[in-house]
Amino acid sequence: MIHTKILGTGSYVPNQIVSNFDLEKLVDTNDEWIQSRTGIINRRVTRGENTSELAYKAAIKALEDAQVNAQDIDLIIVATVTGDYPFPAVAQILQRRLNCNTITAFDVNAACTGFIYALNVADKMIRSGSYHKALVIGAETLTKYTDYEDRNTCVLFADAAGAMVIGKAETPHIEKIVTYAKGDLEGLLKMEGYPLKENFKTPKQKRPFIEMQGTEVFKFATSVLPEVVNTLINETEYTMEDVSLIVAHQANKRIIDKSARVLKVPIEKMFMNIDQYGNTSAASVPLAIDEAIRHHHLKRGDVFITVAFGAGLTWGGAMIRY
Ligand code: ACO
Repeated sequence: MIHTKILGTGSYVPNQIVSNFDLEKLVDTNDEWIQSRTGIINRRVTRGENTSELAYKAAIKALEDAQVNAQDIDLIIVATVTGDYPFPAVAQILQRRLNCNTITAFDVNAACTGFIYALNVADKMIRSGSYHKALVIGAETLTKYTDYEDRNTCVLFADAAGAMVIGKAETPHIEKIVTYAKGDLEGLLKMEGYPLKENFKTPKQKRPFIEMQGTEVFKFATSVLPEVVNTLINETEYTMEDVSLIVAHQANKRIIDKSARVLKVPIEKMFMNIDQYGNTSAASVPLAIDEAIRHHHLKRGDVFITVAFGAGLTWGGAMIRY
């Protein structure tokens, strides 16, 4: 039986820091509201670097960490909802930029759960025996779709990329991955696309932006986050005591606080970096995992759970021994 493990991780965030005070100048908001309602203090906003550039920089770090040459990768999957273009996919741009061989490379769209979906697909493709080493990335430039006149959303979203190299292992490390979708809740979190043309006329249209019913998404998140953690505990041999860290999608500190209370786990078990990065959608989970490793919250052999939720609506999680 083929098992899989994390060979290395890396992440990259743009240099430009946008604080709550900067946003006070754009919309009717204030630092106190943003911090108390979301936990966010700063976020990173790209200046000229598109999603593939952020992904490339994170990928280089993950390959270095894994001590794997780009030419030894035979699969690239990028989770993103903010690719440089509708096509080609970010994964195909990376295949060229990393000088990989003519391998399989594609993007997946499951919004903030995207990285968990991408990891699930890569994990199963390696377990099938057809692939050996995969580069799995979550990368977003959400700020290009953020309306800086809408205080409900512009304080939340930001740009980043996180990458992971996974490969075959003698013993199980990536133990279990679960992914779910419920499309009838699509209206809670959405970005309109271009409309179909009527009689070959090009309609005049406002640029589409992210739209969200925040309170409803909040309720959904605080219900599915503990549910996924409990499913992973129930369907593996591990107990909550075995789990060193829960690395959740960084959407709102209050979602993570509430989930810790529901799960009856100390807040120290919930990794958080939302204060400095905001909500970076598919990049959030791999960025948080990489930071947890760099800051010594996770070491080799530790068992951790990662969990995410997002537009679709989608949700999912993984139980992993690092
Ligand atoms: N500054 C000041 N006031 C604000 C701001 C702001 N930035 N934003 C909203 N408000 C106001 C509202 O207008 C409202 O005022 P009103 O009572 O006069 O109408 C009041 O604050 C309360 O608004 P709510 O939306 O009820 O505030 P809530 O406590 O729900 O917090 C938030 C809003 C932070 C968006 C929260 O609902 C949340 O985090 N939801 C989850 C979002 C999420 O997890 N998204 C994840 C997926 S992202 C993806 O997949 C791309």
